[in-house]
Amino acid sequence: MKDRLVIFDTTLRDGEQSPGASMTKEEKIRVARQLERMRVDVIEAGFAAASPGDFDAIHAIAEAIKESTVCSLARANENDIVRAGEAIRPAKIGRIHTFIATSPIHMEKKLRMTPDQVVEQAVKSIGWARSYTDNVEFSAEDAGRSELDFLCRIFEAVIKAGATTINVPDTVGYNLPSQFAETIKQLISRVPNADKVVWSVHCHNDLGLAVANSLAAVLAGARQVECTINGLGERAGNASLEEIVMAVRTRADVFPVETGVDATQIVPASKLVSQITGYPVQPNKAVVGANAFAHESGIHQDGVLKHRETYEIMRAQDVGWTQNKLVLGKHSGRNAFKTRLAELGIELASDEVLNAAFSRFKALADKKHEIFDEDLQALVSDETVTPEDEHYKLMYSRVCSETGETPEASLTLTIGGVEHKAGAVGGGPVDATFKAIETVVQSGAELLLYSVNAITTGTDAQGEVTVRLSRGERIVNGNGADTDIVIASAKAYLNALNKLHSSGDKVKAQGNV
Ligand code: KIV
Ligand code: ZN
Repeated sequence: MKDRLVIFDTTLRDGEQSPGASMTKEEKIRVARQLERMRVDVIEAGFAAASPGDFDAIHAIAEAIKESTVCSLARANENDIVRAGEAIRPAKIGRIHTFIATSPIHMEKKLRMTPDQVVEQAVKSIGWARSYTDNVEFSAEDAGRSELDFLCRIFEAVIKAGATTINVPDTVGYNLPSQFAETIKQLISRVPNADKVVWSVHCHNDLGLAVANSLAAVLAGARQVECTINGLGERAGNASLEEIVMAVRTRADVFPVETGVDATQIVPASKLVSQITGYPVQPNKAVVGANAFAHESGIHQDGVLKHRETYEIMRAQDVGWTQNKLVLGKHSGRNAFKTRLAELGIELASDEVLNAAFSRFKALADKKHEIFDEDLQALVSDETVTPEDEHYKLMYSRVCSETGETPEASLTLTIGGVEHKAGAVGGGPVDATFKAIETVVQSGAELLLYSVNAITTGTDAQGEVTVRLSRGERIVNGNGADTDIVIASAKAYLNALNKLHSSGDKVKAQGNV
């Protein structure tokens, strides 16, 4: 019997800390449901004290999720822990994850606390957390640059106080695999009662080593890995869930552990997170990149055709890749539509929402006669939009683009329900459209990124557009999909403006206590 490797997904917390990756409550619930379908053990649903929106999203996820543990992050102070405890209250299995920094540089320059004060605060925090749940995780932030003796001291104290999982984060992605493995080995052998807790690691990817460090730690005795879908996360991101899960499974000859993850749900999860956050997956990304199983060279193709394992160590279908399978067409009825959504794990809130989605499906099927799963995912993502999310809404758009002429866009928008007409010229049809929107909105935002991806193959595919805007301290991503990429672009731009319009002030997780 192999040990269980606990998969702790932090896409909704650390992943959401990527610039512009913030998600609405409904989007977070969709991601959480997909994580549960994938059978991850722990879902870190957010940081309850960060904002009322984060609190509500964690609370809603705690109500919705039944199989996975639902966790909230909390700094090591009473207020944060009370917020986390209240947010996870409805969870069938809930966890509070509290943390404080332990490296000399963080304690002295950021916390301005002595090591003794840090230990005292950590111990008190475990006590506060234990009054809500006996499932309490403690993290020593910046453990990767902390002194081993001090880590032993603080971990001994928090285990005594009742922590049940001890997390060792390489917060700034500074460690190397052999060094990090040695740290984990030393901690497990030196900390009293180490066998009473689960040892966890949380690695960032600043040197591209997050997955390697996490796997080295597993070989040294760690039994929980914190990771994110597509490796999303602060700066260069976190360890990527799909790479960890598939490494452990593919190299079962080396790892003395197994996960409970249903790997066939990996690609759907990757696509969902990419679509919601607007972070595209690079084509050559391991496991979930579009080229991860594509063999280009003749020699490789020949080898794979003769015997798949000549060049493939995993099977595409085992991680959820399907051929772009025709699922529905313009003659499909409401029932077939509803059934396919249910198979994809998509539950629409009411019959009214289902009817609205079905009319949009029919409109799409008129323009594009083969509808794939990816089209359905993009189509229903708009269904979670509430009127409050749509302060700016596109009603009508007309764009002229002609050889030798300057492209021109005319639009009708509603702003807070009031209709406005706008027009502008630009370097291209998308530029003209964005300029036309800005003539009435005057957002003062700066465009940081514009990207278009075809959702499926074929020239009638829907284009999925991502727009990243910044204004002051805030960065947001907007998405839009349509068979007409100029309309998809307008939708994405307005989606980003709507996110800027909604209040989104948050406390940053990596902060003072
Ligand atoms: O990177 C980090 O140290 C964290 C902690 C809050 C666990 O995200
Ligand atoms: Zn982190």
